[in-house]
Amino acid sequence: MTKLNLVLMGLPGAGKGTQAQRIVEDFKIQHISTGDIFREAMKNETKMGVEAKGFIDKGELVPDSVTNGIVEDRLSMDDVNDGYMLDGFPRNLDQAKALDEMTGRLNKPVTAVINIHVDPEVLIARLSGRFICKNCGATYHKLYNRPKVEGTCDVCGHHEFYQREDDKPETVKNRIAVNTKLNTPLIDYYEDKHLLYNINGDQDIDDVYSEIQKVLKAL
Ligand code: AP5
Ligand code: MG
Repeated sequence: MTKLNLVLMGLPGAGKGTQAQRIVEDFKIQHISTGDIFREAMKNETKMGVEAKGFIDKGELVPDSVTNGIVEDRLSMDDVNDGYMLDGFPRNLDQAKALDEMTGRLNKPVTAVINIHVDPEVLIARLSGRFICKNCGATYHKLYNRPKVEGTCDVCGHHEFYQREDDKPETVKNRIAVNTKLNTPLIDYYEDKHLLYNINGDQDIDDVYSEIQKVLKAL
């Protein structure tokens, strides 16, 4: 089996985090979510977190000069030697080219890109209904993905949840617009490299995962 050095693509709300949670557990690889890294830095009010917040709250991308460095630092660590899943990186062509360079230097090249495609009309409903466990970050939805026991996280058993600041309707609209514009050239880029696998994200969470699993097992 090829080493699983993966990129997970999809517009905001496509289900990247939801699927990544399962993939990394089943395939024993590291989950690297740039969004999660920024949220942790914002929570701790680090210099980078304060800078990132100015962009994230408006639904804009954090500048590549910041984001690329964070990814390279993370990919340099030994725990990703046996595989990684990048969630939400790259988001534009310059980031994709920077990723090629850093993974070349580190000898950890991307082996497959999973693109979760969802009709943009569905995304707003997904993001406005999302809630997240305060303790472990597991993601739920008030209609489509409720915890098994009401008010209790399936993963860690905690009872407190929150909604993301950038899930406010105005910010969501801008996030979707910004990412839609950048997505097509990125898809073409990975298609040309024969790395791209398109997944239908407009189906139940379990069915989306079955499609992804099939692709990964065949690699
Ligand atoms: P990030 O945190 O990555 O946000 P995003 O890309 O907008 O994506 P989301 O996390 O909102 O959605 P998701 O695809 O993970 O969906 P989820 O699984 O949660 O980034 C945040 C911000 O950080 C960016 O806006 C940017 O400012 C900055 N940033 C991050 N990376 C950057 C980069 N590379 N460069 C520059 N800036 C960067 O699912 C959503 C909801 O739907 C949940 O409630 C879930 O339960 C539900 N759901 C999931 N799948 C299904 C399904 N199949 N059916 C029904 N419901 C479903
Ligand atoms: Mg996410």
